[in-house]
Amino acid sequence: MKKGQIYEGTVKRVDFPNKGIVEIESEKAVVKNSMPGQKISFSVNKIRSGKAEGRLLQVLEKSPLETREKACKSFGECGGCSYQTMSYENQLEMKKEQVKRLIDQVCQEYNYEGILGSPIEWGYRNKMEFSFGDEIKNGPLALGLHKKGSFHDIITADDCAIVDTDFNQILSTVLDYGTELGMDYLHKLTHKGYLRHLLVRKAVKTGEILVNIITTSQEELFHNPDDDVQQEDTIIDESNSRDVFATLAERLLELPLAGSIVGIHHTYNDSHADVVKSDRTVVLFGRDYIYEELLGLRFKISTFSFFQTNSLGAEVLYTKVREYVGETKDKLIFDLYSGTGTIAQLLAPVAGKVTGVEIVEEAVEAAKENAALNGLSNCEFIAGDVLKVIDSLADNKPDIIVLDPPRDGIHPKALEKIIGFGVEKIVYISCKPTSLVRDLEVLQAKGYKVEKVCAVDMFPETVHVETVCLLYKVK
Ligand SMILES: C[S@@+](CC[C@H](N)C(=O)[O-])C[C@H]1O[C@@H](n2cnc3c(N)ncnc32)[C@H](O)[C@@H]1O
Repeated sequence: MKKGQIYEGTVKRVDFPNKGIVEIESEKAVVKNSMPGQKISFSVNKIRSGKAEGRLLQVLEKSPLETREKACKSFGECGGCSYQTMSYENQLEMKKEQVKRLIDQVCQEYNYEGILGSPIEWGYRNKMEFSFGDEIKNGPLALGLHKKGSFHDIITADDCAIVDTDFNQILSTVLDYGTELGMDYLHKLTHKGYLRHLLVRKAVKTGEILVNIITTSQEELFHNPDDDVQQEDTIIDESNSRDVFATLAERLLELPLAGSIVGIHHTYNDSHADVVKSDRTVVLFGRDYIYEELLGLRFKISTFSFFQTNSLGAEVLYTKVREYVGETKDKLIFDLYSGTGTIAQLLAPVAGKVTGVEIVEEAVEAAKENAALNGLSNCEFIAGDVLKVIDSLADNKPDIIVLDPPRDGIHPKALEKIIGFGVEKIVYISCKPTSLVRDLEVLQAKGYKVEKVCAVDMFPETVHVETVCLLYKVK
């Protein structure tokens, strides 16, 4: 194949995360955003170490696996979902094989338990961070997700199928309000503009909803009619002016939702990075946390703290983790990369002691509070980088280590130190199997054997998949 040329071919398979493999004669090209069995045309834009990388131009023929219609108007363009037109059964089969192919590259003998699906296929997300922007340059205000492959263009996600309908009603109400008031969104290049994100969280078990509208502090960019109802010449000041979104909050509280809104906030964030964080937050209504329940335990989740985004899927994942951890009676367990301490707390009731380590202090505070809420006194949570904190734990050799690192896997030096404990059993949970196999190679070279692997689909319709892996130290 030659760079710049256009080719046609059938996608033989899709490797994790969304690498469609097309073979033409004896040559191979990787084309992203395709489905197994589709006939496509693509242009080759790179040849790297003999392998061609192509850009999808057109789907010429549907895949035989595409047996159903799309579930929202934006499927295909929106960067959120990739497989809506494939049955869930076929999605699971594809992800199961993707994980197996990766693990097979580094492990010879292990028990592959296949894949466990999400208990619900649609409306499973308990948190969304929608972005404000426009779909086409200078087009109307949009609120939703990024277009596939685009940094700038936003597609309004008012009929998103992987969130429940409460999210869609809230999104439409916020978008209508911003449009009515002529609010502009933050333009990334000039850093001018007001609206940034809409964050919505909803707990499946309690139905509690949290809404947070995130803006810059550039309020001079538009006129706030709410100020007119206040005394004349009001200065923008929390003490004597209604917040820009006070009327919006009233409208949100009147929506006929299935769940109930327990908090509405307006967060100011002037940071240049495209992240959702707070410089200052104004409470418009209620509290800044919701309660969720997983496997009989209760968790307080604040606006910004990490929590698995599919609550019912998390129960499946954590049940598998508990099974792999096995007998815990009187055992000392480390839960490294512990987030809000969910895994630690699910293991604690029958363990000797569980120590969680997590870098985000807010998450550690939430973990401590949650452990107290659940009446667990044998959990300890330490804030800090695993790489450093682990040195201070050197004298407390654990019996079992649970690892649940972020996407990039474990820092090589941290992994070395973890291996240094010489524990008999490690349970590794990974949201990116390509990072997992890199770390498994190191663990195997240092005397661990992969005993069992199970994939868990926490993210139906998308390219993502979670993997749980049980390792034993070879005697
Ligand atoms: C995939 S989440 C797992 C959270 C938790 N186990 C759960 O199921 O909710 C990974 C966590 O690792 C934390 N993290 C990232 N880098 C870290 C580091 N170097 N040291 C400690 N924690 C880290 C993140 O803040 C995040 O909470």
